[in-house]
Amino acid sequence: MSRRPLIAGNWKMNGLRADAKALASEIANLKKSDTADNCDLLVCPPFTVMETVGTAIEGSGVFLGAQTCHTAESGAHTGDISPVMLKDAGCTHVILGHSERRTDHGESDADVQAQSIAAHTNDLIAVICVGETESERESGNALQVVREQIIGSVPAGASAQNTVIAYEPVWAIGTGKVATPDDVQTMHADIRNTLKDKLGEDAANGMRILYGGSMKPANAKELLALADVDGGLIGGASLKSEDFWAIAQSCPSN
Ligand code: 13P
Repeated sequence: MSRRPLIAGNWKMNGLRADAKALASEIANLKKSDTADNCDLLVCPPFTVMETVGTAIEGSGVFLGAQTCHTAESGAHTGDISPVMLKDAGCTHVILGHSERRTDHGESDADVQAQSIAAHTNDLIAVICVGETESERESGNALQVVREQIIGSVPAGASAQNTVIAYEPVWAIGTGKVATPDDVQTMHADIRNTLKDKLGEDAANGMRILYGGSMKPANAKELLALADVDGGLIGGASLKSEDFWAIAQSCPSN
């Protein structure tokens, strides 16, 4: 089954209005001038620049996403943002369960599943993140840990249309260390098998599974060519338009 690659930029807690506008405009212009059109592009800026970025990418075909959301649609939740607000701000996607949210804010698999359901209810595509720590990999438990995260975080109503999985080994995030292509393919195939058991063949075969963790122009081509890698979730390299674009250009052509 052919899955259209998705290259997603997670800007994390970076970007004041002027830089965000410049970066988003550069990405939008590159996308508009693209003739190959071999992948979808998504940018996930901080909430404070959502409108700035949304305006800068308007009409370019670049998708807009957020980095988390609450489960409720509105109410007394100081500091939180609801999926309805994200939709209203022009978002089509939301990253959920990133390891930095799991660590900094104690988000559990059950929280991520509830957020994903809230996202789906509001017509947002959930980009659900999973990944093992260094000690879990070293002790030989990486596959099992990620299986449990998938089972616990992905809701029963997930489909290839409303959900994307991002495998991000925690030890590879922002460290310059990258999982080997063999380990990445083994993990992605295992994730797809777990999805088959949970959601059925069609959903699992159609669902995009992204790799994230120190993906750069220099290693993107090899990773993106792997059979079960359907794109990338990019942190540091998504903050430079030329690097983000070079990664997008590394997707296999259709
Ligand atoms: P880096 O690309 O900076 O390693 O970050 C990956 C990531 O966490 C994307 O969500």
